[in-house]
Formats: sequence, structure tokens, C-alpha cells
Amino acid sequence: MRALLILCALAAPAAAQSFDPIAEVLLHPRCANCHVGADGIPLWSTEAGGTQPHGYHMQGGESRMGIETLPCSTCHTNRNGVLEGSAPGAEGWALPPVEMQWAARTPAQICEQLKDPDRNGGRTLAEVADHVGHDPLVLWGWTPGPGLEPAPGTPEETVAAILAWADAGAPCP
Ligand code: HEC
Ligand code: HEC
Repeated sequence: MRALLILCALAAPAAAQSFDPIAEVLLHPRCANCHVGADGIPLWSTEAGGTQPHGYHMQGGESRMGIETLPCSTCHTNRNGVLEGSAPGAEGWALPPVEMQWAARTPAQICEQLKDPDRNGGRTLAEVADHVGHDPLVLWGWTPGPGLEPAPGTPEETVAAILAWADAGAPCP
């Protein structure tokens, strides 16, 4: 019994520093549907790992804002639609740069790129955490509008998880 208690005490901090809870958020469709690859096709997936493409043959194009095809802002304004199935919205709606792709990637790959300033927008991990706590598109993931499941937990919990993981030396799975 005593040994078990000691084991649990040892295991608890390791769990708090793990990349797992962070990966669970980043791979949730509310985040991964925008964090797509070089084809620039946003997703309408409803589950982690889903591959359902955005309707209307939508593509981000070179700008990642659809300017060369049909601007995202034609349908996505700076706030959510009121009806289920209408276009959600937040300030600056656009796809992230290609190197920030998470959809179709493993937690191990995402972990490595998230801490690489060449692939995370030149950020320290404290700045990555700050981005998660303040950026309108990230915060949208927790207030996605009617009919859409929010990302797991809260922005504050995700910020805390990133800082704890960074403090532990940012280990990857
Ligand atoms: C509407 C599209 C969209 C959604 C939805 C979205 N993002 Fe992003 N994300 C972006 C854009 C655009 C950038 C690039 C902005 C920049 O680097 O300043 C970005 C960059 C980031 C970055 C910094 C780069 C990096 O890889 O470290 C993080 C962290 C991030 N997003 C987290 C999230 C999380 C967490 C969610 C879900 C809760 C989310 N995003 C949902 C568009 C989106
Ligand atoms: C012609 C209108 C239209 C245009 C233009 C458009 N979208 Fe959409 N988008 C929608 C609608 C409608 C939905 C909601 C679909 C639903 O929930 O059934 C949607 C949903 C999304 C979602 C899914 C959100 C989620 O997590 O479920 C993402 C991501 C997205 N759009 C990104 C983009 C990006 C990036 C652009 C520009 C490159 C863009 N869209 C251009 C109409 C549009």
C-alpha cells in the first residue's frame, strides 16, 4: 500500500508535464480544421483525425485567406453565425502558415514543431502559451458557436499545461 502511494506521488508530476493533454487540444477539430497542410483546404471534420474537406471547393490559396479564390471573410465575419451550420467567425479568420500544420500529423511530430521557432512563428514556449491565452482564433475554439463541440478543457488549462510542459524541458512523446 505504502509503495503504491509513493508510486502515485511520483507519477502525478510526470502526467502534469506531459505533452498528451496539449496534443488532445491541438488535434481537436476546432483547432486542427484550420491547422491544415500545403493543399490549403480547411476541414469540416467533427472528430480528431477527420479528413472531411470544407464545402464549396474552398482553398486558402497562397495568402491562406482565400483571397485568390474566394476570401474567407465573404462568409466568416468576426463573430459566429446564429444558426447551426452557418459560418462561424472570429477576427482575422484565415488558415495558419503551412509549417503550423497539425491535421494528419502525430502528437510526436506536432510536439517537435511546436517548440521549433522556425515552425512556430519565431516564438518562445512562453510566447506560444501567451498566444493560446489571447489570440481571437484560438479563443474561438472554446466558443465555437451553435452545434459545434468546443475544444477540451479551457484556454487557461491549456496555457498552464504548455507552461508546465515547457518547465519540464518540453519532452516529446
Ligand atoms: C480560423 C483558423 C484557426 C483556428 C480555428 C485555430 N487557429 Fe491557431 N492559428 C491560426 C493562424 C492564422 C495562425 C498564425 C498566426 C500567427 O502565427 O501569429 C495560428 C497560429 C497558432 C499558434 C502559434 C503557432 C504555433 O504553431 O505554435 C498556436 C499555438 C495556435 N494557433 C493554437 C491554436 C489552438 C490551440 C486552436 C484551437 C483551440 C487554434 N489555434 C485554432 C488560425 C487558426
Ligand atoms: C462560401 C462561404 C464560405 C467561405 C468563402 C469560407 N467558408 Fe469556411 N465555412 C462556411 C460554413 C457555412 C461553415 C460551417 C459548416 C458547418 O458547420 O456545417 C464553415 C466552416 C469552416 C470551418 C470549420 C470550423 C469547425 O471547426 O467546424 C473552417 C476551419 C473554415 N470554415 C475555414 C475557412 C477558411 C480558412 C476559409 C477561407 C480560405 C473559408 N472557411 C471560407 C462557409 C465558408
